[in-house]
Amino acid sequence: PRRILSGIQASGALHLGNYLGALKRFVEMQNAGDPCYVFVADMHAITVWQDPAKLTAQTREIAAAYLAAGLDPSKSVIFPQSAVPAHAELAWIFNCTARLGWLDRMTQFKEKSGKHKERSSVGLYTYPVLQAADILLYKATGVPVGEDQKQHLELTRDIAQKFNNDFGVPNFFPQPEPMIQGPATRVMSLRDGTAKMSKSDPSDLSRINLTDDAETIANKIKKAKSDMDVLPDTVEGLEGRPEAKNLVAIYAALADMSREAVLAEFGGQGFGGFKPKLAELAVSSMAPVTSEMRRLINDPAEIDRVLAKGAEQARETAQPVVDEVKKIVGFWQG
Ligand code: TYM
Repeated sequence: PRRILSGIQASGALHLGNYLGALKRFVEMQNAGDPCYVFVADMHAITVWQDPAKLTAQTREIAAAYLAAGLDPSKSVIFPQSAVPAHAELAWIFNCTARLGWLDRMTQFKEKSGKHKERSSVGLYTYPVLQAADILLYKATGVPVGEDQKQHLELTRDIAQKFNNDFGVPNFFPQPEPMIQGPATRVMSLRDGTAKMSKSDPSDLSRINLTDDAETIANKIKKAKSDMDVLPDTVEGLEGRPEAKNLVAIYAALADMSREAVLAEFGGQGFGGFKPKLAELAVSSMAPVTSEMRRLINDPAEIDRVLAKGAEQARETAQPVVDEVKKIVGFWQG
């Protein structure tokens, strides 16, 4: 079977893009019967400074979101990245496999470091190498992510291949497949259909947070940017209409429908008719997740039990792999 692995950074509130592009897909894959390793990327989070108390809270919050969305600790291994030291060990070895030229091409570093490259942490630069270690440590073969992670997955494949070649161990690390599928691989801002929905957008109206209540969700959809035209009958008709395209994609992902099916229902209608239906759907599909999340956050003991058990299982899977890597590299075994 495929071994699925993915993670979400513990760096602030989750939004609808994380939910539709990643979280909801993890649950689908778990329920399809593939073994899933799903972690909270707290080591990635500290590539930009995090308040320590908040980091702990955000780690529990992501774990709560995993459980609330339907990840089941008896089927999936749910753990904090930092609780498995082998991530850091393998990341160091991969720092010596990856080439500067490869990392220089990473667009996310360019975006995140902005004009102040020299003041960015070294961790932010080498972030995708740690991501490769996360994936290859479990010899994962399927990695469900949003479109923004595509380049990091390509780097992971390059690192796997170079490691295998450098040490003459063909097929030691598999080539993991990026699983970037479905209608919501790139959810856009509700205020600007050409910008990605993201945690760092200063406008809270640009995104739906997993912590928003029903009224807030409905209000944000009502205020979402749209255009004056009616919805088209075909997906092609959405071209050049980024806001319409985004709202239709969100509807499709929430309803588990294709965009074609959404347009078959709403084609010819204006946003005055479509938006209330979208708001209703968003509220009814998110409310159970957000309310369960709130309940879990108020009971951290339950979350901590899940994370502790997951960490133990993850260490059991990871340890033999990192042990073998150290042997391959020639580290003293004793
Ligand atoms: P992060 O925490 O930024 O985002 C978590 C997941 O959400 C997806 N995503 C989106 N999908 C659709 N539309 C959007 N607007 C949107 N915004 C975010 C992301 O693509 C991601 O799948 N580097 C990763 C975390 C990570 C990881 C890994 C992922 C660390 N190690 C190993 C997979 C495997 C990240 O920062 O995701």
